[in-house]
Amino acid sequence: MDKDLAQQKIENAQSREELTAIYNELFGKNGSLTVTLKELKNLSIEERKERGAELNIIKRELQDVYDVKWNTLSEVDTHKPPIDVTLPGERTVTGDLHLTTKAIDDIRRIFQKIGFYDYTYHEVEWEYFSFDTLNMGPTHPARDDFETFFVQGPVSSKYGRMVMSPHTSSGQAREMLRRQGPPIRMISIAKCYRPNWDASHTPMFHQFEGLCVDKNITINHLKGTIAHFAREYYGSDVKTRLRPYHFQFTEPSFEVDISCSVCNGTGMVDNRKCKVCKSGWLELGGAGMVHPHVLRSGNIDPEVYSGWAFGIGIERILMMRGSIEDMRPLYEGNVSLYYHNS
Ligand code: PHE
Repeated sequence: MDKDLAQQKIENAQSREELTAIYNELFGKNGSLTVTLKELKNLSIEERKERGAELNIIKRELQDVYDVKWNTLSEVDTHKPPIDVTLPGERTVTGDLHLTTKAIDDIRRIFQKIGFYDYTYHEVEWEYFSFDTLNMGPTHPARDDFETFFVQGPVSSKYGRMVMSPHTSSGQAREMLRRQGPPIRMISIAKCYRPNWDASHTPMFHQFEGLCVDKNITINHLKGTIAHFAREYYGSDVKTRLRPYHFQFTEPSFEVDISCSVCNGTGMVDNRKCKVCKSGWLELGGAGMVHPHVLRSGNIDPEVYSGWAFGIGIERILMMRGSIEDMRPLYEGNVSLYYHNS
């Protein structure tokens, strides 16, 4: 039993755990000091007295050193790395806005900046505004039960039956009447309803409608506005194009495409056809110059004024941005399915 060595060991201990082990090595049942003390009985009475007194002093001194050391060591294991207070803290999950809500906020912000106000129209709408004002006559297929949800309720001699609004275009004539004429620069965001259910369709979905009516409004204004939106929403290198199409309520009519951001508009990824677009382009929505019939329904003279309109699905723009692959989980309430994309 070497007192100096024992004292050094105690003083160098890094944790209470280590210190306890040293204590047991010294003072435990088979500890070195305990054994030395036991061996005293082999000595003569004289020697035992002298050596015994000496050992007891050593024992007390070592115990004092031990007590001091114990109090300097904290209960936390000092072998663990010290806490780095400069590291960023761990974020607690506090929930988030729904992806659709976020997209709506983005769209509002983009259009507000270029002078568009937003106005929301009804989820339950008259047939008249959903179809008649839009030049969709009584035999138009969209009026079929398979295409549109009809609501049981009052039937108006002027406005017909009630429907769950199948698109935001019903807001076109409504807005013209509400504003009592141009200038109109409206963005209308609302829920729409159609009886479809697959990866890119849910019976309830969202659209936003752009409507601009004034003197001398041309296709150039439509192209410029859509290109601006696409660049703001998808990034500055996104290209847009208008492809001839047909809608009853616009003339001429177009489908709006944007270049696919996954393959950069090339249609190819790693020498294979791009899975998202297959062609380099993705369809954003419908658009065109407002049909004279619609302007007249909104009490606007088509000889004096012209306008453009577009309608774009909000879940669609989320899919095109790669935020979701399937629309259905958005409305199934299982947040974890798409949480990582928000
Ligand atoms: N309402 C059309 C649709 O739902 C889109 C559209 C809006 C087309 C405005 C042209 C102008 O498909």
